[in-house]
Amino acid sequence: MIQIVPSILSADLTRLGDQVREAAAAGADRIQVDVMDGHFVPNLTFGPDTVAAVKSCIPDLPVEAHLMVERPEQFVVAFAKAGADYILVQVESTYSLYRTIQAIKEAGSRPGLVLNPATPVDSLREVWQYVSIINVMTVEPGFGGQRFIPASPDKVRRVCEIAPGVEVEVDGGIDVETAPKAVEAGATLLVAGSSAFGHPGGVAAGIRALREAVG
Ligand code: DX5
Repeated sequence: MIQIVPSILSADLTRLGDQVREAAAAGADRIQVDVMDGHFVPNLTFGPDTVAAVKSCIPDLPVEAHLMVERPEQFVVAFAKAGADYILVQVESTYSLYRTIQAIKEAGSRPGLVLNPATPVDSLREVWQYVSIINVMTVEPGFGGQRFIPASPDKVRRVCEIAPGVEVEVDGGIDVETAPKAVEAGATLLVAGSSAFGHPGGVAAGIRALREAVG
C-alpha cells in the first residue's frame, strides 16, 4: 500500500498544529519532520520539541524524524523521547552507523537509513537488514521545492534488489509527475513537502492529487 508522508518543511509554521491535523484528516499516512543542523546540510530547522508538538497534535499518526545532522547518535534518545516513531539517519553522517541503528531501537523507535543522491546503494550492504525504512533522497537535501533527480527511479530499483522486504521511501521533488515513476520503481513511502503542504489548494488537495496520481 502506497503511503503519503507530508513533510513539515513546507508547512505554514504559524499554524503548524492545524496544518498537521488537516493533513491527517485528509488521509496522510505519516508526517515527517525534516531536522537540519546547518552542518550536514546548509539549512537549520527543527528539534525534538517540534517532533513532540507535532506528535501531540496527531497522536494516532506515525511521525518520522529525518535527521539531516552530523553525528545523529547524539540526538537519538531525545527524538525517541519526543515521540518519533521512526528515526531516519543519513548513512554519510556518522562513523558508527551500526551502533546508531541499535541505539534507535534501544530508545524505542524504529530505524531508517537515508542515502544522499551521490551515495552508492552498496553502502547499505552490511546494514539494510537491521532497519525498517530505506529513504532514497531524490534531491540533494536541505531545501524544499527542488527538482526530482531523473536517475532516481533506477536507484530505487537497485535499493529494492539489495534490501528485499524493506520499505523504500523517496524524498524530494515528489509530485503528481514524479510519484508514479518512484512507485513503479518500487517505492512505497512518498515524502512530499511542496506538493502537499505547499499545494496552492491546501494540503488536503495536495494529498488527494498525489493519491490519484499513484492510483
Ligand atoms: C530535504 C527536505 C525535503 C523535503 C521534501 O531537502 O527534507 O526533501 O522533505 O521537500 P519537497 O517535497 O518540497 O521537495
